Amino acid sequence: MANTLGIIKPDGVRRKLVGRIIARIENAGLILRGMKVLQLSREDAERFYAIHEGKPFFKPLVEFITSGPVVVLVIGGHRSIERWRDLMGATDPARAKYHTIRREYATSIMQNIVHGSDGPETAGTEVAFFFQEDEILPKE
Ligand code: RTP
Ligand code: MG
Repeated sequence: MANTLGIIKPDGVRRKLVGRIIARIENAGLILRGMKVLQLSREDAERFYAIHEGKPFFKPLVEFITSGPVVVLVIGGHRSIERWRDLMGATDPARAKYHTIRREYATSIMQNIVHGSDGPETAGTEVAFFFQEDEILPKE
């Protein structure tokens, strides 16, 4: 019952998709354990995406993720990491399965609406990046 980190990226917030994305999380039976609206600084973004440093899309990615407010979510429930990634769909919306968030709403491989941790280790560090222990609802 590990938690995972979700982010509604600036394109999702700008396009007023927050409610629809949260509805998908609820409808899938996943559990919202934490939520914040915030604006990432350049330093935050570079630290959060440090794994992509040196890649050709790193600078544009930092630009994009700092281009407006984001919503950060702690998502729990059985197999939350895999199930949230399944709801999101593939990074490239053209390759994402039908009915996934990215297939329906993303406009490019960069502007792809949502983020999700990709494994148990990153889920732990990414949740801790944005949330203190006492800002996360306990697992019942
Ligand atoms: P995320 O980390 O945002 O959940 O997405 P992901 O695992 O599906 O994709 P990742 O390879 O970790 O890339 C992080 C974000 O960088 C932007 N981007 N990727 N792979 C590329 O060619 C590429 N180009 C741009 C996307 O916003 C991607 O989600
Ligand atoms: Mg990733």
